[in-house]
Amino acid sequence: MGQVTWWRGGIIYQVYPRSLMDSNDDGVGDLQGIIAKLDYISSLNVDAIWISPFFKSPMKDFGYDISDYRDIDPMFGTMADFDELITKAHSLNIKIIIDQVLSHTSDQHAWFQESRQNRTNSKADWYVWADPKDDGSAPNNWLAIFGGCAWEWEPRRQQYYLHNFLKSQPDLNFHCDDLRQAVLDNVEFWLKKGVDGFRLDAITFCYHDELLRDNPAKPKGQRQGRGFSEDNPYAYQYHYYNNTRPQTVGFIEELRALINRYPGAVTLGEVSSEDSLATMAEYTQGDDRLHMAYSFELLTDDFSAAYIRQTVEELEASIGNGWPCWAIGNHDVQRVVTRWGKGESNPDLVKMLNGMLFSLRGSVCSYQGEELGLTEAPIEFEQLQDPFGIAFWPMFKGRDGCRTPMPWSKDAIQAGFSNVAPWLPIPSAHAENAVDAQEHNAQSTLNSYRRFLAWRKQQPVLVSGDIRFVEANVSILAFERELAGNKMLVLFNLSEQSTSFDFDGYQLNAELNEHGLLAGKLVGNTIELPPFASYFANIK
Ligand code: NOJ
Repeated sequence: MGQVTWWRGGIIYQVYPRSLMDSNDDGVGDLQGIIAKLDYISSLNVDAIWISPFFKSPMKDFGYDISDYRDIDPMFGTMADFDELITKAHSLNIKIIIDQVLSHTSDQHAWFQESRQNRTNSKADWYVWADPKDDGSAPNNWLAIFGGCAWEWEPRRQQYYLHNFLKSQPDLNFHCDDLRQAVLDNVEFWLKKGVDGFRLDAITFCYHDELLRDNPAKPKGQRQGRGFSEDNPYAYQYHYYNNTRPQTVGFIEELRALINRYPGAVTLGEVSSEDSLATMAEYTQGDDRLHMAYSFELLTDDFSAAYIRQTVEELEASIGNGWPCWAIGNHDVQRVVTRWGKGESNPDLVKMLNGMLFSLRGSVCSYQGEELGLTEAPIEFEQLQDPFGIAFWPMFKGRDGCRTPMPWSKDAIQAGFSNVAPWLPIPSAHAENAVDAQEHNAQSTLNSYRRFLAWRKQQPVLVSGDIRFVEANVSILAFERELAGNKMLVLFNLSEQSTSFDFDGYQLNAELNEHGLLAGKLVGNTIELPPFASYFANIK
């Protein structure tokens, strides 16, 4: 694969820096911890790492509230540590994608500190300020995802400011030219440091409707999806006016023009809109927008062959020359094994889920711990850190359960993550699945993950071939991948019951069994698929 296109079909391993490795025994992971684990990450055969934010922040949203875009939070280390991290990653041929939170800042950011003072300062319109209604109430009905009204009163200006997330995360006003330029300058700072790309947080939230129109109500029954449920009133609205505004495409094009000046750098947008698949397609069209985008469509609770097929087919129908990135887990949702596997960490299920993710057409974000099959950690209310969880407990317990520290060593203190109690507890079940407990077991989920990715690199058809779904029994996800006339049949049994696939109509070229997943077997004209088994074959 050429340097410039590594990202097409690339595997991006997501590092949540607070929880990868604590090098200085303060209970929180850090950049030196990531450096110490780069050899491990390299052994997974991934192409890149996306590191969640490590910039200066009061950590109200654990780094997604940035107070200085050009500095490292002391909790995570120093700029010298980051330089060392890039150098070592590159020496291991691992690309570095950093997280850019462009839509909002922390309320501690110097821009906001100035903007909130009065209506005349040099940053007065860098945030979204609006007068109250005549009765003093908020300008409109917009809601914040993390609970309550999206507007917060600022006495100094006698105005409200907009926040789509926490009230300590004021939204920037992208309609302001100077602000957009300042944002782009911050991005360029990191391009000059040699990063290979950006994951763009909440990119659909950059713009708001300048007329501040009310969002329409969403009827009951349609309030699912996008990671929200009826437990959160945010799901009761169509977010037409505070999300995915038409101007966003213009900003994306400005951003891309900057990125293009640094050949090889890529962009990965986080999309959450009323029609996320359509937005993924729109934002990645042509050569002047984002390189790739992911959304929450496979981060939901729906786990069936029909749902995955429908999602991917719908995207494929509109993506054109755009490019998707798929994820089945990340730091915002319950661990996939718990969400899709009814809580059990069955190794065959874990292997199948990872193999399936790596076989879809597109790039992939694979979240730290998925190689170990980590389950959602049970967190007591008293232990909760995530303000989202605290606000919606007990109906929604927040995102702490997927953010607990990595278990490195089964018998070590704090599973080898730290020598002191970490910021979130490590469940004993996680320690059982620690890296060192899996390392020497050829059948472990960890070694399956490594083997699959090594094998995948030898299968260009899986990296960038077209995808076409095939009819099969209800529990089977069946598709063909095709590249330059080479065709591969790919089957996954998503259920805990055995099933079979009728091979009639196919001519076998070669059965492929080196992938490290539990393999199905061709018997006569039938492929027998034990629970969670997979089957790959080159076909004519
Ligand atoms: C999406 C991030 O993934 C999430 O963790 C964060 O809370 C919000 N954006 C706000 O930045």
